[in-house]
Amino acid sequence: MDILITGGAGYIGSHTAIELLNNKRNIIIVDNFSNSKKEVLEKIKEITKKDFKFYEVDYKNEKALDKIFEENNIEAVMNFAGYKAVGESTQKPLEYYENNITGAITLLKVMKKHNVKKFIFSSSATVYGNPEKVPITEESKTGETTNPYGTTKLYIEQILKDLYKSDNTWDIAILRYFNPVGSHESGLIGEEPNGIPNNLMPYIVRVASKSLKELSIFGNDYDTKDGTGVRDYIHVVDLAKGHIKALEKLEKENQGLYIYNLGTGKGYSVLDMVKAFEKATGQKVPYKIVDRRPGDIAICYSDPSKAQKELNWKAEKTLIDMCKDSWKYITRS
Ligand code: UFG
Repeated sequence: MDILITGGAGYIGSHTAIELLNNKRNIIIVDNFSNSKKEVLEKIKEITKKDFKFYEVDYKNEKALDKIFEENNIEAVMNFAGYKAVGESTQKPLEYYENNITGAITLLKVMKKHNVKKFIFSSSATVYGNPEKVPITEESKTGETTNPYGTTKLYIEQILKDLYKSDNTWDIAILRYFNPVGSHESGLIGEEPNGIPNNLMPYIVRVASKSLKELSIFGNDYDTKDGTGVRDYIHVVDLAKGHIKALEKLEKENQGLYIYNLGTGKGYSVLDMVKAFEKATGQKVPYKIVDRRPGDIAICYSDPSKAQKELNWKAEKTLIDMCKDSWKYITRS
């Protein structure tokens, strides 16, 4: 049986593909390279010494998806395809709603047609909006997302809940990621945002490698220990492993809709990250304090205990691992 991975050449999809192959799973990758590179597929093969089927297809293309399901023996789908840049989503809301929501619906329709009902969805802590309290549990209130990207995640979660309500033979895992960073320990694959990065770690890495002059820290007047924003950074390999555990859960339970936070449960400030990166790599990260970034929240970190209890999954890598591996990817590529 095959596991279909949409967006499998992307940052989180490619790391999950590796973990699946390492777990002796057959995978099929679907990607249209809208925000990823073909070479990643070769790197996945190089790292795992395993082969897999690949289709260059846009996941909104119902006919092409239908053919993929006809040609293969698909057991479950992991959906990593989707636009993910918060800032860009405020400029291009229609493109974000169309790509993320139409894509998910198309995929689910084709799955339904072929009676494939195991679905793992990449959601995000962004669905919690500005949390009332931390740590955030899966029962914390969702809604009041601050940008179209976040709203696409919220809406797709709702679509999945409604789908499950209509037919409880579906088997769905919604995984709410906190802040994924780092890269595979080989340094062969990693995060490669187009243009100037929006996220903290890719920005720090570019400053350390001197392709950008200095980091702008967005505000030091938040109600946090040093005034800078606090987040729950999680190593992407730990995150990828969480998907394997979620798949095993769906295979074991065979019916249900499950929601899990995937985070470490620890909050680190922007200044903590700068210091950790300097310590881990020996590189300097010059920075200046600038105004707050609109839409940012002060603190966001998870209570990951539900995933630990029900999936037997726990993030294991340290902040130093996250920094070292992010740097390794940049210096190797
Ligand atoms: N930050 C800076 N300077 C930068 C970039 C970020 O100071 O150049 C700060 C932010 O203000 C924030 C922290 O670093 O305090 C983390 O910012 P990121 O942009 O890396 O991450 P966010 O928490 O804002 O957003 C991330 C993902 C979203 C997801 C959200 C909630 O990018 O996809 O977490 O889970 F929706």
